Amino acid sequence: MSAPPPVAGVIGWPIGHSRSPALHGHWLRRYGLPGWYVPLAVAPGALPQALAGLRALGFSGANVTLPHKEEALALADVATPRARRIGAANTLVLRDGALEADNTDGFGFLENLRAGASGWRADAGPALVLGAGGAARAVVAALIDAGAPSVRLVNRTRARADALADALGGPVETLDWAQAAAAVDGAALLVNTTSLGMQGQPPLELSLAAAAPHALATDIVYAPLVTPFLAEAAACGLRTVDGLGMLLHQARPGFEAWFGRAPEVDAALRQAVLSA
Ligand SMILES: NC(=O)c1ccc[n+]([C@@H]2O[C@H](COP(=O)([O-])OP(=O)(O)OC[C@H]3O[C@@H](n4cnc5c(N)ncnc54)[C@H](OP(=O)(O)O)[C@@H]3O)[C@@H](O)[C@H]2O)c1
Repeated sequence: MSAPPPVAGVIGWPIGHSRSPALHGHWLRRYGLPGWYVPLAVAPGALPQALAGLRALGFSGANVTLPHKEEALALADVATPRARRIGAANTLVLRDGALEADNTDGFGFLENLRAGASGWRADAGPALVLGAGGAARAVVAALIDAGAPSVRLVNRTRARADALADALGGPVETLDWAQAAAAVDGAALLVNTTSLGMQGQPPLELSLAAAAPHALATDIVYAPLVTPFLAEAAACGLRTVDGLGMLLHQARPGFEAWFGRAPEVDAALRQAVLSA
């Protein structure tokens, strides 16, 4: 008897808006691989039963999104160092009955910059990170690990930025929200990780006129693709990279683990996910 085709999915609540099924579905079709990737609506409180269900149903693993990322890490049998450092999992792999937790958001963030801004290096100079939520944690950890000499972390709620800096260690300086404009000066990388600028949210209003001419700006918000923050950066003559690529690149390690092929991020994938 041959083994059944691999099955993976994305666990979240709500899950209808997730672009992950379109993303992985595109790769499965493109490479002609057998298998399925399905949306899995799992209510808050039901993650332990859902993970038991993955095992019982023979899943190869799953992505995990809000609100289950922290609990998924706690429930896994083993975790990668980067998932433990970030304190949350977005990728689960079932290997020989053991549930392995990983967090690929920081990987996706860096790969998106490397692909979208040729020659970009984390050690080029200080990074300014706006926001200190769950995604910021992955971004800041990735930047430190990639060699950023310092990270200026600005958040509306200063205490949340302080807690993130304490948890991660490294060259992270926290600042008040009112200091954001001053923190632009001399930064080599400018990152929005707040939800400001997302469809339905107020814009992020920050002048980038004081940014160094070689600075790179990126927004992890990708709906819309050109956020007010990226529009301001472009108007100031800065290089920009939009946030969709982070979503696409973070998916690569999971796809390879579940379906056995290292996938590529290209224009056709971007289009498939944008039109989903
Ligand atoms: N491209 C990707 O692959 C990717 C991956 C993950 C997330 N994202 C996007 O990144 C964004 C953040 O996600 P998250 O999971 O980190 O969310 P989160 O944990 O809820 O954090 C939200 C952040 O936005 C800040 N914020 C919200 N409203 C604000 C306002 N009116 N003024 C100033 N700051 C405000 C929060 O500040 P406080 O701490 O003061 O509340 C916090 O820093 C979302 O839009 C999400 O869709 C994209």
